[in-house]
Amino acid sequence: MSLDDFDRYPLLFGPSPVHPLDRLSDHLGGARIWAKREDCNSGLAFGGNKTRKLEYLVPDALAAGADTLVTIGGVQSNHTRQVAAVAARTGLKAVLVQESWVDWPDAVNDKVGNILLSRIMGADVRLVRAGFGIGVKDSWRQALEEVRAAGGTPYAIPAGASDHRLGGLGFANWAREVQQQERELGVFFDTIVVCSVTGSTQAGMIAGFAGQDRPRRVLGIDASAKLAETRAGVEKIARGTAELIGLGRDLRDDEITVLEGWAGDVYGVPVRSTVDAIRLSGSLEGMIVDPVYEGKSMAGLVDLVRNGDVPKDSTVLYAHLGGQPALNAYSGVF
Ligand SMILES: Cc1ncc(COP(=O)(O)O)c(C=O)c1O
Repeated sequence: MSLDDFDRYPLLFGPSPVHPLDRLSDHLGGARIWAKREDCNSGLAFGGNKTRKLEYLVPDALAAGADTLVTIGGVQSNHTRQVAAVAARTGLKAVLVQESWVDWPDAVNDKVGNILLSRIMGADVRLVRAGFGIGVKDSWRQALEEVRAAGGTPYAIPAGASDHRLGGLGFANWAREVQQQERELGVFFDTIVVCSVTGSTQAGMIAGFAGQDRPRRVLGIDASAKLAETRAGVEKIARGTAELIGLGRDLRDDEITVLEGWAGDVYGVPVRSTVDAIRLSGSLEGMIVDPVYEGKSMAGLVDLVRNGDVPKDSTVLYAHLGGQPALNAYSGVF
């Protein structure tokens, strides 16, 4: 098997844009930094990394005769919003279990941003009181049961579309896209910086890059504040994806790197370095990053480049995975 043996339902505009961040690079005075933009990869409700993953889950759902996509996330989940958009585009229904993963006092937290967009797109949005956790949850099982009881055929999509057989394929394809864009641009990205929580974004990249001739580093920045769980998730999905696409060898431990230091104490709450990184990216590049995910991976990138942990002669690709709609629930921070 190879990646080409899997059906892909096109949901993106095409390859996502890649461009240099010259003012940020000059400011930090180290490695040259570029960005690849999943935040503008699609016309479906602001896109993002899940839209890319779902290109490989949708054919499976359609083949199974499903009529309802059932998934789970926090109240301001980007993932559930992207599932709502993909359901709308493909003529399916969406049931979204939105748990209170983040204890965030903003009065409009469950009214604006991602959850507002999901409601506009006609999803069945269900608010459930339960804490952060990316594993299989009772609330999700119950929603699947309810769809069946009503005579529907649900298709189960786990948190972040990660713990799913096909979850890593979208970003294995991203790795191939990067290689193609490098040829066109005449550049080689020796280091990738990516935010990790449910894991299949980084895992897909690792599996995809592992099959290429020229090695590079994929540095995951944990944003869940649960490093061991994040790393375990990335490792499991990377190994599964590598096997699925016929890599033909085991991944080495040193190919799986998830770094801690920028998540703060809990998932979903920005810390000083997050807010500084959001302002820096916005003021130097006009590039907006969010307080839950990308602000944390940007904070990691800033430190790694500034401190020389990523060498000065490196060329870094920052994977911008989307997520800006959540900013609406964080206005108080600014
Ligand atoms: C904007 C954004 N960045 C990063 C991530 C992390 O990706 P993953 O869950 O695949 O590790 C997510 C989703 O969890 C996200 O919505």
